[in-house]
Amino acid sequence: MARPGMERWRDRLALVTGASVGIGAAVARALVQQGLKVVGCARTVGNIEELAAECKSAGYPGTLIPYRCDLSNEEDILSMFSAIRSQHGGVDICINNAGLGRPDSLLSGSTSGWKEMLNVNVLALSICTREAYQSMKERKVDDGHIININSMSGHRVVPQSVTHFYSATKYAVTALTEGLRQELREAQTHIRATPLSRPSLLAQCISPGFVETQFAFRLHDKEPEKAAATYEQIKCLQPEDVTEAVIYVLSTPPHVQIGDIQMRPTEQVT
Ligand SMILES: NC(=O)c1ccc[n+]([C@@H]2O[C@H](COP(=O)([O-])OP(=O)(O)OC[C@H]3O[C@@H](n4cnc5c(N)ncnc54)[C@H](OP(=O)(O)O)[C@@H]3O)[C@@H](O)[C@H]2O)c1
Repeated sequence: MARPGMERWRDRLALVTGASVGIGAAVARALVQQGLKVVGCARTVGNIEELAAECKSAGYPGTLIPYRCDLSNEEDILSMFSAIRSQHGGVDICINNAGLGRPDSLLSGSTSGWKEMLNVNVLALSICTREAYQSMKERKVDDGHIININSMSGHRVVPQSVTHFYSATKYAVTALTEGLRQELREAQTHIRATPLSRPSLLAQCISPGFVETQFAFRLHDKEPEKAAATYEQIKCLQPEDVTEAVIYVLSTPPHVQIGDIQMRPTEQVT
């Protein structure tokens, strides 16, 4: 059954990036459960196909459409938006979730690790945002949402060298979300004959602390015991906790704009 406030999204299209595992997979599942058409993208498309079959056999009212996309490649992203346009019309909600950390410190890290983080965490998020906005604009969608999955690392720098560059990319997400909020306000005030007192396309972000996913295993891919310890030291957030925040953001009435939801495990110190 649709949650109160979610009825308006039934049969509308949400793009969820990084839907193959972790937070993105949980968000995609929850949106299909709420009756949305969800395009879930990632490189490991087989996982999304399995999730789509699972959603179908559970009888959820929406559908999950798997799409293989390497977000570090702009052409892949543009082809995906073009396929969404020709097959489904366009995007009403864009959830920029895909992201990663590499253990490359500022003093001795590899440039390739920094580039990978920049490409996915910052550039892909910005390209998807631009394309989603253009899609909403051309179809005159006046209630679209762009939700960035940020991080507590986008708000404070913890004294752990392996997270410093990652943290810089997430500070960028904080700035990009606020910049987008301002540009949307400006653009919509100018597009309409009657200036709006409030923008109707919204930019928002959710900033979790530790969430138990593949994230730490990918960050510490050469030291899996370190990754396991990350999730064993405290009771972490689960992907479903972040999903609840996404559903909350989407179910608020149009006069409400959430800026950022910061959420940590209760036991997290930093
Ligand atoms: N876990 C945490 O503690 C935590 C805390 C705060 C914020 N976050 C943020 O939450 C978001 C999701 O992370 P998660 O914890 O769910 O991590 P995860 O389990 O490692 O999942 C990351 C997702 O991003 C996708 N991805 C990575 N590189 C990609 C690329 N080049 N092209 C397409 N997709 C790509 C992965 O898909 P493929 O590998 O299949 O392509 C995967 O679906 C990230 O933005 C992360 O920064 C996580």
